[in-house]
Amino acid sequence: MSYLLYVSVSPQGDRSVSRNLANDFLDEYRTKNPDTKVVERDLAVKLVPHLDGETLGASYSPVENHTPSMAEKFKVRMDLINEFKGAKEILVSTPMWNWNVPSVFKAYIDQLIFPGVLGDGTPENSNSAKVTVIAAQGGSYAPGTPREGWDWLTGYLKQVFTQLGSKDVKIILSELNYAGWKPGMENLVGKKEASLAEAKKAIKSRV
Ligand SMILES: Cc1cc2nc3c(=O)[nH]c(=O)nc-3n(C[C@H](O)[C@H](O)[C@H](O)COP(=O)(O)O)c2cc1C
Repeated sequence: MSYLLYVSVSPQGDRSVSRNLANDFLDEYRTKNPDTKVVERDLAVKLVPHLDGETLGASYSPVENHTPSMAEKFKVRMDLINEFKGAKEILVSTPMWNWNVPSVFKAYIDQLIFPGVLGDGTPENSNSAKVTVIAAQGGSYAPGTPREGWDWLTGYLKQVFTQLGSKDVKIILSELNYAGWKPGMENLVGKKEASLAEAKKAIKSRV
């Protein structure tokens, strides 16, 4: 079965900017690809466990040596990896939190990258699928802004998905979402709206 894997991160439900933009992507995608299933991995609903000692132990020891608890944790990891490996296209929606991804998304990435299985740079342990990341943030870190250089999300995610094997990673950003309600950012509402419109345009041409 051919599927697009949609990894969603924001816990903000209908109020989430990144989820709403991803829904635009999916509406368009479903119209253009009626035969492709969409599999959603919603990290806000089902938290991904951090790599703990048992998971790491299980990852580097023969299955016959696994305790029941190790086996259970290893299965969680391998299910995530196989779901990612099998996708023909990948869509991600995420907020920026503290200049990077929310920790649940980092936990997911840590589960996925498993040298010898996925993300070690070899063709057999890669998924070369197209990846679109839709990210939302409160501020702006664009060149010339006071906080230029504080963005540890976009470059990081580009590296992660390239290392997982993608030859086509695109980050679509909606910035300045704090404008309009955070004191001191009133004059940036126009720029926020322009960024949102730009993101919607980029989504349309990406699908
Ligand atoms: C815990 C937390 C941390 C945040 N950290 C940042 C940040 O470092 N930089 C930024 O520009 N916005 C930050 N924001 C604002 C969000 O990125 C912004 O509201 C964005 O729209 C959230 O995406 P969502 O609407 O899809 O949930 C933070 C918000 C929260 C709740």
